[in-house]
Amino acid sequence: MSEIRFEGVERRFHRPGGNFLALENICFEVAEREFVALVGPSGCGKTTLLRMAAGLDFPTGGRVLVGNREVRGPGPDRAVVFQQFALFPWKTIRQNIGFGLKCKGTPLTQRREIIEHYVTLMGLQGHGDAYPHQLSGGMQQRVAIARSYALEPDVLLMDEPFGALDAQTRVLMQEELVRLARDNPRTVLFITHSVDEAVYLADRVIVMTPRPGRISAIIDIGLVRRTERWIDCEHIEEVMAQKSFVHLRSRIWRLLRGLESSGETVGRAMETGVG
Ligand SMILES: Nc1ncnc2c1ncn2[C@@H]1O[C@H](COP(=O)(O)OP(=O)(O)OP(=O)(O)O)[C@@H](O)[C@H]1O
Ligand SMILES: [Mg+2]
Repeated sequence: MSEIRFEGVERRFHRPGGNFLALENICFEVAEREFVALVGPSGCGKTTLLRMAAGLDFPTGGRVLVGNREVRGPGPDRAVVFQQFALFPWKTIRQNIGFGLKCKGTPLTQRREIIEHYVTLMGLQGHGDAYPHQLSGGMQQRVAIARSYALEPDVLLMDEPFGALDAQTRVLMQEELVRLARDNPRTVLFITHSVDEAVYLADRVIVMTPRPGRISAIIDIGLVRRTERWIDCEHIEEVMAQKSFVHLRSRIWRLLRGLESSGETVGRAMETGVG
């Protein structure tokens, strides 16, 4: 079953002097428990697509469906992590993580358990009673991620969630996300500027081109990941050193640079050894 579906989506914005076509004929699906990454240059419409899945923006043509229903607004089945993490400044870290659970009516004892689990998972031990302004930017982002994971939503929508993190924390979070995806798979639509991050995390990578935003290719990573057994690697740098990873990464870069058309299959690109 497809959990998220974009059917011929178009988005025009009104601007002084005329209409601006931001997205044209966007068609793709994210299957249940699939992790799909969107990559593409700044302004190609990634955030707009994610906002549509979240029910915060609406297409001017075509349809967006989540769980087979057309999206008409935000809902508890979807959690969003934005580029700029929005925590409640007057609530502690524990209260921030537990807020959505409280709204959902999760009983207190269960709530406490879940909160502690995510405090530990995100390396926030010792900071549970601090307020957001007392934490670094990277730590605040980890709280925002913990808050959305804690809700265990059907669909996670993440817009550059690791963009503001330092390189080391980013790698730890990426490895954590891979573990989470393996142990507790969710339907994820994930935006990133990092091709490496997309290839490392996603089952499929959607490559977009700008003016207007369109899909130029959809690359299957899951198959290669399984056959090449990336899962056996403990750390991201081991995966990144694999030939199969390097091939996929350079193929996506070529697509982004417009050096390759989308017709060629990944299999052929790998056979011929071109990146
Ligand atoms: N509310 C709006 N009104 C007018 N134009 C908009 C609006 N929101 C987005 N746009 C335009 O739509 C295009 C896509 O914007 P969007 O934020 O989706 O891009 P993006 O791919 O997420 O970029 P980035 O990688 O920089 O975050 C841009 O040209 C932007 O200026
Ligand atoms: Mg964006």
